[in-house]
Amino acid sequence: MNPLKLAVFASGRGSNFLAILEAARAGRLSAEVKVVISNNPEAGALVTARENNIPAIVVSKKDYTDRTAFVRAMLTPLSEHRVEMVILAGYMKKIPPEVVDAFEHRILNIHPALLPSFGGQGMYGHHVHEAVLVQGCRVTGVTVHLVDRDYDRGPIVAQRCVPVEEGDTPDTLAARVLKVEHQIFSESIQLFAEGRVTVTGGRVRIRP
Ligand code: GRF
Repeated sequence: MNPLKLAVFASGRGSNFLAILEAARAGRLSAEVKVVISNNPEAGALVTARENNIPAIVVSKKDYTDRTAFVRAMLTPLSEHRVEMVILAGYMKKIPPEVVDAFEHRILNIHPALLPSFGGQGMYGHHVHEAVLVQGCRVTGVTVHLVDRDYDRGPIVAQRCVPVEEGDTPDTLAARVLKVEHQIFSESIQLFAEGRVTVTGGRVRIRP
């Protein structure tokens, strides 16, 4: 089986990206990260990429007056590196529809809650965990899903529950959720690497 060629999009520290690299190195994931793209020149993910000799590029909308040029700047490295799947690992910007269409059912996002609850615009980072605590939820979790044109709405590939514990703060909860993110993301990508995922009528089927 040839390793699945990935692009990772990340805006921040990139711990999910690192977990993917480690899973690949450990032989738990048959994939290779060919390029990392960030909107944020300060992203830790770019540092990790460079330390691992992976091409790391900043593509930020604000550097482009022309929309077409911006979309091209995103799509060109993906085709140059023959990327088969795009992994959003803490990517805080909306993916342009042209990129969504070019990679239909091949863009995977991770969300630190059980979608469709606690998703959508503005629901990112600590906002998610705060909202879960305000609601008094007893469980939260992680969702890995395919990306379509709507925020946090694409077909769900995998979900896992995480308990909310007495006295949790957004930080303690985020840390517990993050540990699960680091496992479930690579496991989900591996399903694609093994060619076991199909999407019909907006729902994911995983061949046993
Ligand atoms: C994660 O909690 C992920 O679910 C969300 O953004 C965070 C990124 O963390 N989409 P990191 O940059 O991978 O450490």
